Amino acid sequence: MPAGPTLAVVGAGVMGSQIAYPAALHGYDVRLISRSDDRLRAASAASEALLRRRVDKGTLDVDACAAALARVTLGSAFEALAGAEMIIESVAEDRDIKREVYARICEHADDTAVIGTNSSTLASSLLENAVTHPERFLNIHFFNPALRMALVEVVPGPHTADDTVVRAMDFARAIGKTPVRLAREEYGFIANRILFIAVQEAMRLVQEGSVSVEDCDLAVRNALGWPMGPFQLSDLVGLDVVEAILDEGFRQTGDQRWEPVALLRDLVAQGRLGKKTGGGFFINPPQ
Ligand code: 3HC
Repeated sequence: MPAGPTLAVVGAGVMGSQIAYPAALHGYDVRLISRSDDRLRAASAASEALLRRRVDKGTLDVDACAAALARVTLGSAFEALAGAEMIIESVAEDRDIKREVYARICEHADDTAVIGTNSSTLASSLLENAVTHPERFLNIHFFNPALRMALVEVVPGPHTADDTVVRAMDFARAIGKTPVRLAREEYGFIANRILFIAVQEAMRLVQEGSVSVEDCDLAVRNALGWPMGPFQLSDLVGLDVVEAILDEGFRQTGDQRWEPVALLRDLVAQGRLGKKTGGGFFINPPQ
């Protein structure tokens, strides 16, 4: 079979691995790179299981599934970046870690490659001086669970070339996603800006004793049509992640709407981080 276009994803957490597989399903050869073999194994097993479930449900052809799985190569060597026209960085939300990763990416990436960061809190202009070709660098932001969620936010910085934005939009469409283009960098971009301010309002209502967590989620699902209420969604995303997004928003904008409410701070301090620790706002989260 002829080689397809090539995507490299650096970072094999929940997001990185779930970005890799829709691209493979749409014909991309994908190199998924992580420094941790355990993480790579866990990431590929989890994504494989999700794809096989689609086969069981009859929504994915068994051969298409096998072909997609065969298109994903796992490894720790950055040499695998050679030949990738698109590189998505999806490592921890930590400027120093990202800078280190960019130094390694730029050592091995093709000169023409677009580098997209999946960061939700760090606009590419905050990391621009860590890459050798800022004109081909921007935010390409996916949503959790990335295998399923269609939206991709494409966010150029002042350093990003127009052609890079076009390539990022085309890439998102080519892997079956729905891209939106921001005119400029805004904290939270679009969806998180609206979502997390709304989640803060929900937490304030509960903290003030106006409503229970359960009833607030019920209200938002049934009145606003959200698939999950703000508390179930926070448990899915992880309360530590929610807190970090809010903290960073307050740091970057100075706007008090972002300052995490005490209820959230308390749960995180207790180690109740949501689904991943077996409980957050919900002890037994709704299935
Ligand atoms: N990981 C991967 N896939 C998942 C999943 C998970 N945790 N949970 C469900 N899915 C998949 C299922 O496998 C199924 O896939 P398929 O269509 O390929 O068969 C599909 O989602 C539907 O699953 P279900 O029928 O079991 O469940 P629902 O119909 O309830 O849908 C949901 C699940 C898609 C997660 C839906 O509840 C939803 O859209 N929730 C809101 C998610 C959301 O708002 N995400 C944004 C979070 S904020 C963010 O990501 C920003 C970041 O910067 C923090």
